Amino acid sequence: MKQALICPSILSADFARLGEEVAQVIEAGADVVHFDVMDNHYVPNLTIGPMVCQALRRYGIQAPIDVHLMVKPVDRIIPDFIKAGASIITFHPEASEHVDRTLQLIKEGGCRAGLVLNPATPLHYLDHVMDKLDVILLMSVNPGFGGQSFIPTTLEKIKAVKQRIEASGRDIRLQVDGGVKVDNIGEIAAAGADMFVAGSAIFNQPDYGQVIDQMRAELAK
Ligand code: DX5
Ligand code: ZN
Repeated sequence: MKQALICPSILSADFARLGEEVAQVIEAGADVVHFDVMDNHYVPNLTIGPMVCQALRRYGIQAPIDVHLMVKPVDRIIPDFIKAGASIITFHPEASEHVDRTLQLIKEGGCRAGLVLNPATPLHYLDHVMDKLDVILLMSVNPGFGGQSFIPTTLEKIKAVKQRIEASGRDIRLQVDGGVKVDNIGEIAAAGADMFVAGSAIFNQPDYGQVIDQMRAELAK
């Protein structure tokens, strides 16, 4: 199995102290900063954009920034995130008019690219683009809010996507986002995921390092 990557979602961080919060969670052992972008159109919530990503880079954050775009349209915001220092950019195929073009746009900008599938989005969206994917993100909640419960049917979907990745022979990360906690991260990993997004499970605890250590202990079992 690939090295597991813990990706705290800053949606649950204290936005008034965002730089400090991100530095703290990286210091506590997190691997990747998960950056949720919501537009109050594709999803019913509004968050942060490229300026905040750039501000984190200027603040000195060097960890990979994984931009999860929940916006429609997708393409016009991508160059701004590339300039702002994004490392990975993922988007929802239903939100893009031309999925292949959007993937190319991300990769030409030097970022890693991925598709995000909602709980009810079928896997066939992956069919003709596997060669362009660096990440596949499976949503285990409906996108828009932190703090929701993990949808159990996602486990079967993770297994199916894992098989597709193996069959492709490509080096594609399998990320899961929504309701990931210490008590379910083990079964999510066993199903085949190797990148774990967790917002409320980490930021709602006083000691980020303790939660991340507990997650790693579950992953090592
Ligand atoms: C939801 C976001 C998630 C969210 C996860 O639309 O994409 O990244 O922050 O939050 P938790 O871990 O609290 O479910
Ligand atoms: Zn997310």
